Amino acid sequence: MPKAMIVQETGGPEVLKAVNIKKPTDPKPGQVLLKHTAIGVNYLDIYYRNGIYTVPKYPMIPGMEGCGIVEAVGKGVNIPIGKKVIYATAQTGSYCEYRLINANHLVGVPESIPDDIAVAAFTKALTAHYMLFRAYSLRRGQTILVHAAAGGVGGLMTQMAKYAGAIVIGTVSSQEKAKAARQNGCDHVIIYTEQDFSQEVMRITDNVGVHVVYDGVGKDTFKKSIACVMERGLLVTTGQPSGSIPPFNILSIAQKSIYLTRPTLMIYTKDPREYMLSAIEVFTMIDKKVIKPKIFAKYPLEKAAEAHAAIESRKTIGSSILIP
Ligand SMILES: NC(=O)c1ccc[n+]([C@@H]2O[C@H](COP(=O)([O-])OP(=O)(O)OC[C@H]3O[C@@H](n4cnc5c(N)ncnc54)[C@H](OP(=O)(O)O)[C@@H]3O)[C@@H](O)[C@H]2O)c1
Repeated sequence: MPKAMIVQETGGPEVLKAVNIKKPTDPKPGQVLLKHTAIGVNYLDIYYRNGIYTVPKYPMIPGMEGCGIVEAVGKGVNIPIGKKVIYATAQTGSYCEYRLINANHLVGVPESIPDDIAVAAFTKALTAHYMLFRAYSLRRGQTILVHAAAGGVGGLMTQMAKYAGAIVIGTVSSQEKAKAARQNGCDHVIIYTEQDFSQEVMRITDNVGVHVVYDGVGKDTFKKSIACVMERGLLVTTGQPSGSIPPFNILSIAQKSIYLTRPTLMIYTKDPREYMLSAIEVFTMIDKKVIKPKIFAKYPLEKAAEAHAAIESRKTIGSSILIP
């Protein structure tokens, strides 16, 4: 029987359990039966597992990203059997060998891009892309601050921003990650576990601040991130691995008239045309080597708990993926 990972209750990585499940069959109209070949691990999966985000019902199969081969299609679906496709969707359920999924979530993967690279990049690059170019309109010469610049999203965001001609200041927690952040293209790297990053940013920018801060760390960095934004600049809070941002005084952003947004990929990929266009841009950037997705580790599906533990302990550089 095919394997899946399930979660019955919130908790640490240990609540991820491997089970055998019945192979799904008979896709309904509009659905596809997909045989996964590679599965993306995203911080979102950790929020669902640890309870930062609520789960509609238990048991649940985590995961919102997968690459695979179409095995069967329901009525009204014109994707050929055998086609290699990928998806990033709000509906959890990718940590498994076979999945029934709505065809409108699926995007064809160019043959030139291997499955593991596609899944290491898709969600994270779509995220970096919409945050740089749709939540904001990044222009040549502008300066941005990217937290966790050696991470999955942070690494790809740095590479894209450099291609767009921006100046990138990256934060990381260790010397090893600082090296990776420089390889991603960061012009300045701050080891924020050793230095006060807001003071460093103000020093680097001659006390002006940056056009945009991308804060994917949350509780530990939020206040100081506000301090790094220039007058009328933008703070994009993207996630909270260090914990949820507590309530704050709105006047703290009034002093410099800064903008604040907390966007999600699902809203920016809701329109199927936008989703498709962004996917095409991401695949083009991979093909042209504008972005070079880095795979930190590939884990067998049943070792998903190890993948989560490595990400949460801040050991990872780049993306982690599961192989069913
Ligand atoms: N809003 C959206 O649409 C969207 C979509 C996808 C992802 N995201 C967000 O983007 C961020 C990056 O996601 P990712 O999957 O690429 O993960 P990741 O960056 O590969 O891993 C998270 C990184 O956060 C940093 N971090 C700082 N404090 C931490 C703590 N207490 N515990 C764990 N990590 C900590 C670590 O980098 P250092 O060791 O260098 O500090 C760690 O490597 C997350 O916040 C995620 O929620 C948002």
